[in-house]
Amino acid sequence: MHTDILPIDPTKIGQIVLHDSPESLLDEWDLKWEVNTADLAHMKRAAAQLRSTDIPVAFPTETVYGLGADATRSTAVQGIFQVKQRPSDNPLIVHVCSIQQLKEILRSNGSHESIPAIYQPLIQKFWPGPLTVILPNPKESPLAPEVTAGLSTFGARMPRSLLALVLIKLAGVPLAAPSANASTRPSPTAAEHVKDDLDGRIEMILDGGPCDVGVESTVVDGLTHPPSILRPGGISIEKLRKCPGWEDVVVGYKDAPEKGIKPRAPGMKYRHYSPKAPVILYEAGAERPTAETIGEYIRQRRRLGIIRTKSWPPACGLPIDSANDQEKKVWTVARLEEHVNNISESPFISSNGNPLPLQEDVLAEPGFVNLLQSYTQHRVPVASFMSLYLDISGPIDLWEISLGREMKDIARGLFSALRELDKYGVDAILVEGINDDEGDIATAVMNRLRKAAEVRV
Ligand code: TXA
Ligand code: MG
Repeated sequence: MHTDILPIDPTKIGQIVLHDSPESLLDEWDLKWEVNTADLAHMKRAAAQLRSTDIPVAFPTETVYGLGADATRSTAVQGIFQVKQRPSDNPLIVHVCSIQQLKEILRSNGSHESIPAIYQPLIQKFWPGPLTVILPNPKESPLAPEVTAGLSTFGARMPRSLLALVLIKLAGVPLAAPSANASTRPSPTAAEHVKDDLDGRIEMILDGGPCDVGVESTVVDGLTHPPSILRPGGISIEKLRKCPGWEDVVVGYKDAPEKGIKPRAPGMKYRHYSPKAPVILYEAGAERPTAETIGEYIRQRRRLGIIRTKSWPPACGLPIDSANDQEKKVWTVARLEEHVNNISESPFISSNGNPLPLQEDVLAEPGFVNLLQSYTQHRVPVASFMSLYLDISGPIDLWEISLGREMKDIARGLFSALRELDKYGVDAILVEGINDDEGDIATAVMNRLRKAAEVRV
């Protein structure tokens, strides 16, 4: 099977028609287009494949790339497990494009389930966005049983990536989608990452450029008292705690798995997020790597990877030959990198056809603010090459990536950096950790790193 990467510009797939009030964005919306652009044709091709075949389609969300299938058809959902080689007891998240679509799942076949009130403030504030809520699966559920892996609940989220929303809309069905990596690998945050893992196993990867958030959604369970966080992610615990009913939300996950305890989010028990090279995680406050400690991780290839964040100096302050730097600098090509950082024309129109201006009062509605972020484009981090001189025979090849000091940049670049360094066949990847209390999504970043790490310093 040949795997196509289909580039899609989110400004060329039509306009979003909103019904009446800004709030209704979450409820229901339509897609309108005048010209059939190549981008839209790609979207339609993907939607048709989702409806009529059992081959999943990879698509971008604001968190990570997902591997989608029609959540209502067993054979289609089985396709995901086959392609990913994912254990079948690990349930999938159901992605919807509107509240209406979610209500249809809850109310189908005479069922009267509704979205539990505890989730209302969260949905208002964080959808569309990186938050997954656990809901009761109705008795005669339209969802394929493979989606829930035998649980009586299902996870649902409305992503804020316009590409994801439009794909779900065009497919006309909710999409079950795990991250589009091969099981145990770091989640993909660019189309190329999906290709690296799943080449030849799927037909299409919709390429919307590198993801905005870079770590997966936060999974919350409000069906228990007190409510709990099953997986830290794109919405921070501090933000959740500010919502009515969520002030006392408890942490229901463990960074490092404990023996004998059954994890409540089944996905959290497996080896996860790991590049091929062993990851050596330096917790915030640990002494930074010295020539001696680095020496311990150097193997036959004499190649080292370093990921810096808040405070490590280049090459951890060890002697390097930077004359080589220019000549051997390695650049990763990011597609679609130059456009839509500033949208001047509103992609939203009202039901009577008038463009909705991007004014302050419209922007004040959280759903809009969330959605507009899906237009921002990013680059993937690049590695610089240098020769590192330790006190052991001859230079060591060092590939180093600096993710910057900003939390958002660190989260966005993390998985990409782990994959990037793997490409150079390094013996080990040393990572500068951050403080969990740093705020924002530091907790999610450290959770992923601790799971990826072989050694914690
Ligand atoms: O950001 C994301 O959530 C991405 C993108 C593609 O949307 N998706 C993602 O899916 O990360 P996946 O399959 O890699 O992770 C789903 C997580 C797992 O930890 C799984 O155990 C948990 O959600 N989960 C799903 N349904 C659940 C349920 N009914 N009860 C408890 N945990 C559930
Ligand atoms: Mg995953």
